[in-house]
Amino acid sequence: MKELKFHGNSIIIGESAIDFIKNVDMKRVFIVTGGRAMFENGAMDRLLTLLNDKKADTYIFKGVSKNPTTDVVKNGIEEMKKFNPDTVIGIGGGSPIDAAKSMALFYEYDLDIERADSITLPQVRNKIKFIAVPSTSGTGTEVTRASVITYKDKNIKIGLKSNAFIPDYAILDSSFTLSMPKQVVAETGMDALTHAVECYINKNIDEFTEVLAEGAVKGIFKYLAKSYKDGDIISRDKVHKYQCMAGCAFSNVGLGMAHGISHAIGGKYDLPHGLLNAICLPYVLKFNSKDKSVEKRLENLAEAIKVNNFIDAVIELNKSLNIPLSFKEALIDEEEFLKSINELTENSLQGSTRVNPVKVNYDEMQDILKAIYYGELNSNIFKNE
Ligand SMILES: [Fe+2]
Repeated sequence: MKELKFHGNSIIIGESAIDFIKNVDMKRVFIVTGGRAMFENGAMDRLLTLLNDKKADTYIFKGVSKNPTTDVVKNGIEEMKKFNPDTVIGIGGGSPIDAAKSMALFYEYDLDIERADSITLPQVRNKIKFIAVPSTSGTGTEVTRASVITYKDKNIKIGLKSNAFIPDYAILDSSFTLSMPKQVVAETGMDALTHAVECYINKNIDEFTEVLAEGAVKGIFKYLAKSYKDGDIISRDKVHKYQCMAGCAFSNVGLGMAHGISHAIGGKYDLPHGLLNAICLPYVLKFNSKDKSVEKRLENLAEAIKVNNFIDAVIELNKSLNIPLSFKEALIDEEEFLKSINELTENSLQGSTRVNPVKVNYDEMQDILKAIYYGELNSNIFKNE
């Protein structure tokens, strides 16, 4: 038995989607955002004007940067306790939205986020309305039941899961994506592709999510390189929707080892999540191709995007987006990496790796990590015995 949830209350698309804010009843709005981007690209001005017109009181919690920690969430909750919001809006990249999701839930239930992975999280929000306005196109967090938080003391990112993390409204206003730097377009777009592919080859797939995942793979292959190169509104808008579709899919199914590894590496090195997924994906697919049914699924995807070999197509897409092809190329220090390899191996076996279509043991994971570090796609670990 499986309960499918494709979005919270609504996904708002189309021109000036942000104007939908006019229709939502709210009086005290706690806004969570990142650095300067939302202020510089006009998004915050538009949001504040809309809220002002509704005579809503607002508080802006800004400065949530990549890989938000439990401390960031706790700081936000302290401010919420003083402000007493009825609505939380996460606006910006995946990090502020993920942080905002945890702030809203742990504030409402007065729970300690440090203990979140050892308790059953509440599954509904009763007090706080939650709205997500993504300005990057990748995480799908505006529709998912996950909030990814970095636990510094454990050197790992944990994807907390609850239906209460699914936003009530996901507002996809693609005009806000135009200010994305090229590198962010590339990395977040590859994160979305990784969501769609890991979902598509996951053993928990069903007929509904299969269509969404395959559609997202096709759409991202069609528009991501153009969105990166030209930055035009049409391709940005398409990728914005396809990444959300990938989010709707994986939120119901789960991911796989690329995410398990990237959360372990990202928890230690503070590198962008999408970049790490982009690097990992070809290696992970190669390892998972040992499984005949995964191999067949990848053949389906190759057919869908009209290429001979899907893994080669992912590598080519990475190259066209100027994404490094190994951890070493991504400038992770060799000595430091090898010194930490045991901890990284242990952490890479956690999280989404638990639902990888092929079971992986400690020694295999260590070999996979070394192969990704040195860029060895021909390593013995990827060969069928
Ligand atoms: Fe991701």
